[in-house]
Amino acid sequence: MTKITAAITAVGAFVPDYRLTNKILETMVETTDEWITTRTGIKERRILKDKDKGTSYLAIKAAEDLIAKSNIDPAEIDLVVLGTATPDLPVASTAVYVASKIGAVNAFAYDLQAACCNFLYGMSTAARYIESGKYKKVLLIGADKMSSILDYTDRTTCIIFGDGAGAVLFEPNTEGLGLLDEYLRSDGNGREFLKIEAGGSLLPPSEETVKNKQHYVFQDGKSVFKFAVSNMADVAARIMERNDLSHDDVQWLVPHQANKRIIDATSNRMGLDPAKVMMNIQRYGNTTSATLPLLLSDYEKQLKKGDNLVFAAFGGGFTWGSIYLKWAYN
Ligand code: UT7
Repeated sequence: MTKITAAITAVGAFVPDYRLTNKILETMVETTDEWITTRTGIKERRILKDKDKGTSYLAIKAAEDLIAKSNIDPAEIDLVVLGTATPDLPVASTAVYVASKIGAVNAFAYDLQAACCNFLYGMSTAARYIESGKYKKVLLIGADKMSSILDYTDRTTCIIFGDGAGAVLFEPNTEGLGLLDEYLRSDGNGREFLKIEAGGSLLPPSEETVKNKQHYVFQDGKSVFKFAVSNMADVAARIMERNDLSHDDVQWLVPHQANKRIIDATSNRMGLDPAKVMMNIQRYGNTTSATLPLLLSDYEKQLKKGDNLVFAAFGGGFTWGSIYLKWAYN
């Protein structure tokens, strides 16, 4: 029997218009464009200003972009998986609402939550459904309205994150293209370093939690950085090793956009020329679930059928991992 692999066959993306630049942030918190640029690589991020719009708005826009570009009939989509750390509502998967709004009337849908690894883990999830032979079209979306969980008086977090969404379609492939290997890891000891403390079952919302600003993202940046910089490089190197990929064999590194210094450390470890490293952190900051598909959308025109892509990500939890995927179209 011919082996079925899960290939990406279409990409879509959306970012809101409003640009929150480092210069504007200088007027909001005690920071400088120079500090943010040298420490993170970020120059600006997009923010969804509309108070009445949540993550679903971003996700729907990205999915609609994909549908329009690829000409697929949304009624043919079997499954919609939405990776998000900022669902519209704590209960009632945002994916279900998105699926209905885009006309995926024959799909089932659910959210996936693994912080900045939402999209990477989502690729693994989507691939398993396709490889089973039972599902032909799986839409994977990564979307986050990070501005909804940021304290814009906290300079350690508000300078990092932005809003955005990206989507990819997975379909069966029998030419050996698509997702070929993955190495996914997690470590629950990491949750104290990057979290939202309140609003969950452990510490439900109360007057106290609001007063203490416990509904915003907290990050011990230095500790997360230390884990991220070594672990993201380790998994990417391991994926190369066990697939016999030299730096010449890899056309693209697709790294989570958390910090340019982490991305540089990963590509150095892989021995990659900087020209092979996808990067758009300067324009969008860290969009959590959307970083990887936003990269694919920005670089789509440069990708060729058969290109070897190595994805790598690290996020809260901790969660991290790497995926090896052969690009399926020109
Ligand atoms: O995507 C999920 C995973 N997340 C990550 O991978 C993020 C990993 N961490 C990072 O990217 C970096 O740790 C940060 C960008 C968050 C921070 O950079 P850093 O080089 O680790 O800075 P730091 O936290 O060690 O802070 C250095 C100094 C401190 O001042 P003192 O204590 O040395 O006087 C901070 O208070 O910089 C200060 N600082 C700032 N200064 C100006 C912190 N934030 C700012 C700021 N502007 N925005």
